[in-house]
Amino acid sequence: MKRPRASKRLAPRRGSRASRKKALHALSLRLEMAREEERARVARELHDELGQVLTSLKLEFSWLVDELKKSEPKPGIQLVNKLQSLIGLIEVSIQSVRQISGDLRPAVLDHLGLREAIQWEATKFQARTGIRCRVVSQLVHDVADRTRALALYRILQEALTNVVRHAHAGAVRISLAEQGRTLVLVVKDNGRGIARPEISSMMSIGLLGMSERARLLGGRCTITGVPGRGTTVTVKVPSARS
Ligand SMILES: Nc1ncnc2c1ncn2[C@@H]1O[C@H](COP(=O)(O)OP(=O)(O)O)[C@@H](O)[C@H]1O
Ligand SMILES: [Mg+2]
Repeated sequence: MKRPRASKRLAPRRGSRASRKKALHALSLRLEMAREEERARVARELHDELGQVLTSLKLEFSWLVDELKKSEPKPGIQLVNKLQSLIGLIEVSIQSVRQISGDLRPAVLDHLGLREAIQWEATKFQARTGIRCRVVSQLVHDVADRTRALALYRILQEALTNVVRHAHAGAVRISLAEQGRTLVLVVKDNGRGIARPEISSMMSIGLLGMSERARLLGGRCTITGVPGRGTTVTVKVPSARS
């Protein structure tokens, strides 16, 4: 009797393509969650370890300056100035550590929920860039699912970064709504308007990332541009697990 060839036996069965796709999808989702967990760990360590060392350094230097000022003979003014500028540099480093760990893990999302976190991000964005940023939320209930909230938040961050980098816009409008069982996030600017080749370019890693995040949640992200009128990013994801 002829035995089946090994390669035949290993060949995929009918219908397995869909299940492979499903497995890949689950794996992507799991990987994304692992990345976020890792980010949270790095943020915690940066904040706790480096942040605390820098704060101690600042205190020690301030003490040194005070002691020097009291000492006899009086220290040279240059020495005191030098120390004071060192303290200034340490303060700048403390701020950067805060900023970096805040970006890595948006604690504001845990504390305030998506709606408020988006408002906070918008206020920060406007103050930093001078671009007017308005948030309109029609959500009755906030997005309770953390994976969903985090993905939408990351998409918003990327969309806003693109506005500063590429749009030459004077204003941005962010809206958050629930249409049936679909969450809809729209980020609309009044800048130069993204062009078709930019949307479809394989080099547009940021745009691909936004789409991928939406797809992982069973939704989609579309981006459109009107020359001279602006760019609109629309994200639609199912609001509850089905
Ligand atoms: N809001 C926007 N307005 C105008 N052009 C944009 C906007 N967002 C993205 N683009 C264009 O699409 C390109 C791809 O965006 P992205 O994938 O985020 O890449 P990156 O920001 O790293 O350049 C950008 O380089 C830019 O040319
Ligand atoms: Mg980008």
